[in-house]
Amino acid sequence: MLARLVGRQALASNYYLRRSVMSAANGSQGITFSSRLKEGRALAEDVWSIYNVANLPADCINLGQGYMNFPPPKWVTEAANTALQGVAENHYSHPKGRMRLRQAIKAHYGPQFNRDLDVETEILVTSGANEGQYSVFVAFLETGDEVIMFEPFFDQYLPSVTFNGGKPVYVPLHPPKTEGKNTSNEWTIDLEELKRAITPRTKMIIVNTPHNPVGKVFTREELEGIAALAKEFNLIVMSDEVYDCLTFDGKEHVRIATLPRMWERTVTVGSAGKAFCATGWRVGWLIGPPTIIRPTLAATTRIVFCTNSPLQEAAAAGLEQAEQRGYFAKQREEYAERRKILTDAFDKLGLTYTLPEGSYFILLDIKKVKFPDDYPFPPSVMGRGRDFRACWFIALEVGVSSIPVSEFYCEEHANIGEVYARFAFCKDTETLKKAAERLQKLKGYLQ
Ligand SMILES: Cc1ncc(COP(=O)(O)O)c(C=O)c1O
Repeated sequence: MLARLVGRQALASNYYLRRSVMSAANGSQGITFSSRLKEGRALAEDVWSIYNVANLPADCINLGQGYMNFPPPKWVTEAANTALQGVAENHYSHPKGRMRLRQAIKAHYGPQFNRDLDVETEILVTSGANEGQYSVFVAFLETGDEVIMFEPFFDQYLPSVTFNGGKPVYVPLHPPKTEGKNTSNEWTIDLEELKRAITPRTKMIIVNTPHNPVGKVFTREELEGIAALAKEFNLIVMSDEVYDCLTFDGKEHVRIATLPRMWERTVTVGSAGKAFCATGWRVGWLIGPPTIIRPTLAATTRIVFCTNSPLQEAAAAGLEQAEQRGYFAKQREEYAERRKILTDAFDKLGLTYTLPEGSYFILLDIKKVKFPDDYPFPPSVMGRGRDFRACWFIALEVGVSSIPVSEFYCEEHANIGEVYARFAFCKDTETLKKAAERLQKLKGYLQ
């Protein structure tokens, strides 16, 4: 009952949101907005708003949006507190980022890239990975330039590309060929297909490893194949590695920038939000050759001028101390434990899922979950993939929210994604155990 009530409230709030978007679209105040907003699903109500905790029952366990329900490490937040007591730390930073953070990035990543990174020309601090990626698009895309992305893709890429005149081109990450137990490694790319997608207008390929939402960690061989094509056709590679610190089962994280002759055409993207459980800090970074970093610096300087200063200091402290504290190794173990709580729950239900080898998402196959067609779904999930309704139903009836995976596909391919719901396990073990228990209620809704 409460669930239905809250559902109705959500419906009402969605109504007002749509109304305000519509009145802007009609230019009812005689002022029209830029046509760039008509592309890239920019005006559509995004999945994060629909499945926002504010729209769901208050006691629903949020395994939807990928942010943690635990704080960053104390030694990192203490560094943030210290920074807030300073003077310079509360003011503008250099647009390249604070020197302490750039030095910490150099020390942490240099050995992984096998390079003596230049803090002046090869590292750029950005306002989260998102803004860093956006700045690369601003810096490099001309109208009509094509950007290849593997599908499913992190949804933010789409508007970020189209806002800058780019044209997204989708190449599938093929789902496992067999039903039943599979790992993210069984989601595969076809290099011939990738080659066929390249045209004279192709400018860039986005690689995301470890991958959101699949959890795939691209193999060296796959990356070598992508690299060969990038070199053959003179393309930039944007390697989104925000989950680089989260790989499991001994899986090796390979950086495409470290493959032969790839440094000069690759920009690698990192995020303090993922590394230090602080997604709201909006601190990220780009690492790449001066030919990519310099134009991107020009773009980011005009977009944000600089990233917030005190939290750059805290991120620096995090990178400086991580190794000595064994932080990333411990974090990996903790996440592997969290992953197991959910996979055990799905095993108990007899449902199949993709076991992720990286990142913190599990794709659950929801084909077997049945729900009444006349369930009081809000308009925001009607007319979308079946997964939108399934996730809504699971959230309201079982009390655990997830994200419909068709959102990570273009409209033409949404049917591939709509058999999955994405569950995030970046939550404390107690919450995940409670969610695992609740999920058993799904037994009553399986066909
Ligand atoms: C693949 C991927 N790239 C980039 C981002 C954005 O990272 P940030 O919060 O640092 O902007 C996310 C966040 O979920 C992500 O999943």
